[in-house]
Amino acid sequence: MPEALAHPNIALVKYWGKSDPEKNLPAAESLSLTLASLFTRTSVELRDQPTDSLSIDGREATEKVRARVCRFLDLVAGPSRTRAAMHSTTNFRMSSGLASSASAFAALAVAACAAYGKSLSLRELSILARRGSGSAARSIFGEFVRVRIEQTDQGTEAFAEPITGATIELHAAIALVGASEKEIGSTEGMEHTRATSPYHEAWLRLVARDLARTEVALRQADFATLSEIIEGNALAMHADAMAARPGIIYFEPATLLLIRRIRELRASGLDAAFTIDAGPNVVALARPDQVASVANALAEVPGVVRVLTSGPGKGARLVG
Ligand code: PMV
Repeated sequence: MPEALAHPNIALVKYWGKSDPEKNLPAAESLSLTLASLFTRTSVELRDQPTDSLSIDGREATEKVRARVCRFLDLVAGPSRTRAAMHSTTNFRMSSGLASSASAFAALAVAACAAYGKSLSLRELSILARRGSGSAARSIFGEFVRVRIEQTDQGTEAFAEPITGATIELHAAIALVGASEKEIGSTEGMEHTRATSPYHEAWLRLVARDLARTEVALRQADFATLSEIIEGNALAMHADAMAARPGIIYFEPATLLLIRRIRELRASGLDAAFTIDAGPNVVALARPDQVASVANALAEVPGVVRVLTSGPGKGARLVG
């Protein structure tokens, strides 16, 4: 029975906004780092049974999640395919607010293609994973990854590819914050922002500039420029969401304390920069030899529940 493993990734230049919700096409490109120490493992076994079944960390998935996964399998093998029994486990909790959909759909894409006998190129796999979740396109690849949008004969297409020539190694310290409210999911949050935020066009223009500058800074191992872009890009994404009507606020009090602490650490000489996805958790990017000091400092911040660390991970792959 095919089983695949994929890691989540953290975006340094964020994806926030779709140009085509039906095809799940992003309105702009994005850039991320794949994270080695976190993973999702998913097995897909074809079975003569009336419906697909899915367990996540040993528990039966909700009907909403199961239906999303069924639609995804239809993309792989068509609606009249043999049904599948799927088991998925992660070494980080789904509710922790980390982008588990990236590793989940990257692992599922790889395992499902193997189960249904579909042989896809890495680009096609990335496009498939993107249909499940935009950030999953990036988890097909390891290390630094960029999403590209291209015009083809069939229309617009978006897929990830690895970035070559980066000379800097970044590790991540992931500070998990106890959330008081249920988060607004990324699809809902992006769509509401696109429809109502007066800053959305400016956000999309900023992404194009930040992407070009990030690639140069990664090649030149220029941490000072990287930290300016990474923090500015994350804050601009949140400013876009906050300016929606009604505004979406993902931050918790601890999120702001973490931002301040990471800036203090940088002022004291450590190379650390923060980024924040669609939730209250804060990820610090740091040099490999400094990530433990950064993680220890973040663990002391009031409201932080746990701090995980990770180096760069590999792309999604079959493990069984
Ligand atoms: O892959 P999605 O649809 O869950 O969107 C991810 C959105 C962010 O995590 C906020 C940004 C990103 O680029 O990962």
